Amino acid sequence: MSNYNVQTNAVSSVQKTKDQLLKGVSILKETLDSQDDVPHVFVVFGASGDLAKKKIYPTLWWLFKDGLLPRQTYFVGYARSDLTVQAVRDKSTQYMKLQDDEKDKFEEFWKMNSYVKGSYTERTDFEHLNQEINTLPKGDLAHRLFYLALPPTVFKDVSSNVRLCCMGHEGWSRIIVEKPFGRDSESSADLSQHLSKLFREDQIYRIDHYLGKEMVQNLMVLRFGNKMFSPLWHRDHVQCVVITFKEPFGTMGRGGYFDESGIIRDVMQNHLMQILSLVAMEKPASTSAEDIRDEKVKVLKCMPPLELENVVVGQYTGDPQGEGDAKNGYLDDKTVPKGSVTPTFASAVVFVKTERWDGVPFIMKCGKALNERKAEVRIQFKDVPGDIFGGQCKRNELVIRVQPQEAVYCKMMVKAPGMNINPEESELDLSYGARYKGVKMPDAYERLILDVFCGAQLHFVRSDELREAWRIFTPLLHKLENEKIKPAPYKYGSRGPQEADDLARKFGFIFSGTYKWTKPQL
Ligand code: NDP
Ligand code: BG6
Repeated sequence: MSNYNVQTNAVSSVQKTKDQLLKGVSILKETLDSQDDVPHVFVVFGASGDLAKKKIYPTLWWLFKDGLLPRQTYFVGYARSDLTVQAVRDKSTQYMKLQDDEKDKFEEFWKMNSYVKGSYTERTDFEHLNQEINTLPKGDLAHRLFYLALPPTVFKDVSSNVRLCCMGHEGWSRIIVEKPFGRDSESSADLSQHLSKLFREDQIYRIDHYLGKEMVQNLMVLRFGNKMFSPLWHRDHVQCVVITFKEPFGTMGRGGYFDESGIIRDVMQNHLMQILSLVAMEKPASTSAEDIRDEKVKVLKCMPPLELENVVVGQYTGDPQGEGDAKNGYLDDKTVPKGSVTPTFASAVVFVKTERWDGVPFIMKCGKALNERKAEVRIQFKDVPGDIFGGQCKRNELVIRVQPQEAVYCKMMVKAPGMNINPEESELDLSYGARYKGVKMPDAYERLILDVFCGAQLHFVRSDELREAWRIFTPLLHKLENEKIKPAPYKYGSRGPQEADDLARKFGFIFSGTYKWTKPQL
């Protein structure tokens, strides 16, 4: 575990935010508070790109302004384009949510930035980058973080060149990689092997940004911090678990990139499987990164590969009545190859063959161009046995809504208020917006990048997790591609193909359609 200090010139509002964000996080706090004099250098490879401008630079700015970074942290952008710091700043400012009273701090932030132009393949360019880092104050002694915000085609070259030319001399070096971590078991193993020859596992941070979301991190506490859930979290009581990701927009001209992966690689194999393993894992021996990741891997090891008969794939078509982009189907996107069978929607049923979960279907569902933006875990419980209310009782559901508007709610039966004893559907509702009004909820990338500074690997994907996740998905992906299986069409803005609802029903999920929610007045 590394240690470092925070900017001590922080103003009191910054201190307040920092205190709130770090409340209870003793390891982070100690780490942040204890080391003052070692500079840190954060290198953004692909500084000219989309991820850098939309996520990485804004995240670095938020961490900087909240006083969460070590006092001497320098940021070095690196890309092939002939850019300047000003150009990087111009591209990313619109995503940085700058407030009027933050202008001086903002200038301070950009003063800590520099930019180096170079190729991803030439060793001499990386030697040049290393010289640039060394010229920063105490740069030769600095801890170094390398963020690969790059297409996978250059992962190998860049990681090799970093290892050869840019590693810290005195300080530690950590490398952060973004998905995709390969396309299937073979390519992923190849990449893992490549990285493992260059870096130790504790130097590699594989980002799955869903692991940085508040409600995904909350799963551990909900499950293991509440006695009332532990007996219920079991095949004796749970009918099925539905894990959903929905987006209300299509590929919007970026279909060329998406077509290479499809929704299964883009969302299901990583984000949804990570959530599933946190929902299904046994209680870890401790909250240490290794103990937790050991339990997550065990879940994956107990899952047989996906069968095509338990999967529905879909592709959206345009809605002639829709507005703007909604008129276009996936195949109307000019960047998508003609006749592509790449799925933009998938629903898959998997099983975890453990004593706790055997026989319980885990239904994962994800798609683009659907009716709403939503990510959630829905645990549907079994019917009440020995019903005395003439079949009026609907199944209980515990819903953990990851986004938007984080919430945990439990759908349950109560007596309808009044002069009767009729059961009625209602809920126990923990809406974060109401319960934690005014509390700053950090962005997923903020938490994860801060973790890398601290050397905390809990919310990052370990290589064996990756291997197991690919083992589960690879046969299906190969079958879909080799046999060019045609996805079921669904209309832009709908809930996805009917076949997905049929699949969920076949595995025991019941949608009664009778639950009505009235949003409380805040
Ligand atoms: P619903 O009874 O509407 O159940 C929705 C579930 O049923 C989802 O899994 C959904 O899948 C599925 N579903 C919806 N339509 C169909 C269909 N025609 N056939 C098969 N399955 C279907 O209850 P919710 O739990 O979603 O609650 C209703 C609303 O109330 C939601 O918008 C929810 O966010 C809100 N609410 C908010 C709370 C809060 O903010 N604290 C608390 C309680 C409720 P799919 O996702 O694929 O559409
Ligand atoms: C990314 C996917 O990993 O997650 C995108 O590649 C998707 O296709 C995105 O849009 C969703 O992230 P979030 O945080 O907006 O839910």
